[in-house]
Amino acid sequence: MMIGLKGFLLSVVWLLALVVSVVPVANAQPTRFSDALYAKFQNPRCLQCHQFNSRTHNGRAFNSHRSRYLCDNCHTPRLTGLPRGEWMAPHEKMDWTGKSARETCLIAKKNLGTGDVNSLLLAHLLHDKRVHWALDNGMTPNGKFPAVPGGSKEWARDVRAWAEDGMLCE
Ligand code: HEC
Ligand code: HEC
Repeated sequence: MMIGLKGFLLSVVWLLALVVSVVPVANAQPTRFSDALYAKFQNPRCLQCHQFNSRTHNGRAFNSHRSRYLCDNCHTPRLTGLPRGEWMAPHEKMDWTGKSARETCLIAKKNLGTGDVNSLLLAHLLHDKRVHWALDNGMTPNGKFPAVPGGSKEWARDVRAWAEDGMLCE
């Protein structure tokens, strides 16, 4: 039977569409930390706080904030949306500036206290108010800094996808 050039091209297109739609499913890989979360962890809104106490990375404790204590006096609850006393920077061992995806993930899992590390990390990432400040707010005493792209909605989706696949540090 003659189908003609047009008919032939049309079937090629259909075949390609079929292959394209089937292949990603057959190749489905577990969600990795490096897929979406790594870039967000390395966003300045997370980093500026996490490197705050690092001399190596010229954290703010060693430059703009050399003699600034009583954080809440400036980063007021009204600005940050955090309860009083919660605007604070972590110990420098939680600084992942310049670290690879794997190292960043390992640091994130390291200082969560006792219990099941993955569920502690999941709860922290989904519910910690400072994390949510970085995702949705970004307000400082000098005005608003850009929040992490995608906000908490995209973040929750990416965190849950990663958690469902075992929270591998890859
Ligand atoms: C005297 C007022 C003042 C005090 C006190 C203060 N800050 Fe700040 N902070 C600022 C201002 C103003 C900015 C924004 C301008 C800038 O980039 O330095 C800022 C910015 C920051 C940033 C950068 C935010 C970002 O996402 O880029 C962090 C982190 C930070 N402060 C943490 C702290 C911590 C932790 C403390 C307490 C140890 C503190 N600040 C105390 C005024 C203050
Ligand atoms: C206002 C400062 C601040 C900001 C902004 C911030 N954090 Fe933190 N973070 C902390 C402090 C303080 C701790 C340690 C205290 C605690 O565990 O509650 C911490 C702890 C963590 C931990 C556990 C660390 C470990 O080594 O086990 C993770 C993971 C984390 N933060 C992720 C993030 C991510 C991701 C962002 C950005 C979306 C972010 N944080 C933004 C202050 C901040």
